Amino acid sequence: MSREIRITPSILNADLANLDKEIARISAASDLLHLDIMDNIFVPNFTFDFSAASEIIRSCPIDVDAHLMVADVDKIAPAYAEVGCASVTIHAEASQNVVSTLRAIRRIGARAGLGLKPGTTIESYADLIDDVDMFLIMTVEPGFGGQKFMHEMMEKVRRTRAIIGDRPIWLQVDGGVSMSTISEAAEAGADVFVAGSAVFNADDPSAMIDSLRKLAISMAD
Ligand code: DX5
Ligand code: ZN
Repeated sequence: MSREIRITPSILNADLANLDKEIARISAASDLLHLDIMDNIFVPNFTFDFSAASEIIRSCPIDVDAHLMVADVDKIAPAYAEVGCASVTIHAEASQNVVSTLRAIRRIGARAGLGLKPGTTIESYADLIDDVDMFLIMTVEPGFGGQKFMHEMMEKVRRTRAIIGDRPIWLQVDGGVSMSTISEAAEAGADVFVAGSAVFNADDPSAMIDSLRKLAISMAD
């Protein structure tokens, strides 16, 4: 069975002073826009507060996939769904009550994502599968763009794919995804690919998205 492949560019390493222009360069080629929210507590970096993020979400011409790397995730995640994100991913390590937060996201009408840092096993969360619309397997330690893809995470991607089975749950990888690593992730079972520096460092970001997509499709068939 061939999986539908989605490419979700991260604007973390885009030119944030010209964000509208940067988003316009990639929106036609992208499935969703991946928005990294960092609070300088859960991760050692800061991106947008809720008000700045809301402006981006409201004006974005395509669906937004919010990746919340924040400590107070149970409180803030529903607000990201309310403001119009198509998908809201919380980190298991940051949440005090994973199930109730995933359910709150869904109740508002967004897809509920569960993110796992490299050191967190999928097996600890497999029993929550009925409350999850997407698993995010981090392929770097969250916090910064431009890091090296952790090949050793492919085993976890494979196990997650096996746990998902036939369910219509997306399996996202995030961190270091590029033309030299996307095949491996697709072959292991990922179907949603975040790419930050690979896209925004390319001369033609939208052509890069097309190339990444082609390569992933060829491995996922
Ligand atoms: C890292 C972020 C990623 C990052 C990806 O914590 O969650 O989304 O922007 O950037 P690249 O593709 O450059 O690793
Ligand atoms: Zn991310």
